Amino acid sequence: MFSSKKDIVGIDVGSSAVKIVRLRESRGTYHLENIGIMPLDSETIVDNTIMDSTTIVDSIRNLLKSMKIKTTRVATSVSGHSVIIRKISLPIMTDAELESSIQWEAEQYIPFDISEVNIDFQILGPDAKDPSQMNVMLVAAKKDFVDDYTALFAEAGLEPVVMDIDCFAVENMFDYNYGFVDDEVIALIDLGASATSVSVLKGDTSIFTRDIQTGGNLLSEELQKRLGISGEEAERAKLGDRNIADVDPDSVDEILADAIENLVQEVQRSLDFFSATSSEDRVTKVYLTGGVSSSAKVRETLEERLGITAERVDPFRNVTISEKGFDAEYLDAIGPMFSVAAGLAMRKVGDK
Ligand SMILES: Nc1ncnc2c1ncn2[C@@H]1O[C@H](COP(=O)(O)OP(=O)(O)OP(=O)(O)O)[C@@H](O)[C@H]1O
Ligand SMILES: [Mg+2]
Repeated sequence: MFSSKKDIVGIDVGSSAVKIVRLRESRGTYHLENIGIMPLDSETIVDNTIMDSTTIVDSIRNLLKSMKIKTTRVATSVSGHSVIIRKISLPIMTDAELESSIQWEAEQYIPFDISEVNIDFQILGPDAKDPSQMNVMLVAAKKDFVDDYTALFAEAGLEPVVMDIDCFAVENMFDYNYGFVDDEVIALIDLGASATSVSVLKGDTSIFTRDIQTGGNLLSEELQKRLGISGEEAERAKLGDRNIADVDPDSVDEILADAIENLVQEVQRSLDFFSATSSEDRVTKVYLTGGVSSSAKVRETLEERLGITAERVDPFRNVTISEKGFDAEYLDAIGPMFSVAAGLAMRKVGDK
């Protein structure tokens, strides 16, 4: 009847595209209202740095317009090397006590000047091995980096009421659609265009995160370099087109297999590092999000190397979708690219 005060739109500014998801909640169930994607060229965001804000602002504006969205309250997120997520151990104290001492406690874990970062934390609970200590998830994001993103939204006439971190948005989306199982150790891996993030969870608690500064772009760049084709042709070849002029389809497959092997090795290295540093926890299943998770070859290679199942996540698994409004096949094909945006759309005003 009335536009809800809680009404917010999820906007993920990824390096390859802006993605927007709008959901409607009724009685604890989300319904898909609208979804939109606008590609960005590779010069727009480089190394998590906004190079061309005008293009992004225009893309956001045009997408919202075409989706007929009037809401100005949005949930968005940041990621990359300007964001530090660490699980730390501190003496038991209350939330309020930690609030007043967090700057001081955090200092030794953050590679930036403490005055240059926004700090957030979540007390996870007592340390199983030492009852005088508790585990805390510490999040620090460089202020100027977050300010750049906030400025984008202000310029687009929007108010970011939730400023999230990509991997937490994915966790939120996963929780709603799949749910966490107590004590089960899983890895959520977001395979994006320029970055891959690995996050290991035990039950609903994040116990390890790592960012890898490579992703789907690596595959197209290798094709472009080794076949001497254009960026656009390389992108097409990566997505399965084997009719590229003067290019032998077998060599496309070979180059892709090599590049995928390299990408998977990076993921494996992160998980090996996790195993080496955690006492007894072992990852039993991997869930994949992000555009690159649509590649069957990536999933197969991961399963072979890790020896565990790698499942592609459907961010709309438990979301009600009108058959008339959306093409199921299309939604399935592009779904993984909307994992962050879907998790953001599930946020509420007041969420951190
Ligand atoms: N079927 C597919 N096979 C392989 N790669 C794919 C497929 N579909 C999409 N991709 C790749 O997925 C990437 C886009 O995924 P996504 O939207 O998750 O990235 P992003 O959020 O823009 O990037 P990042 O998170 O790194 O900033 C692109 O590199 C695209 O080429
Ligand atoms: Mg992304």
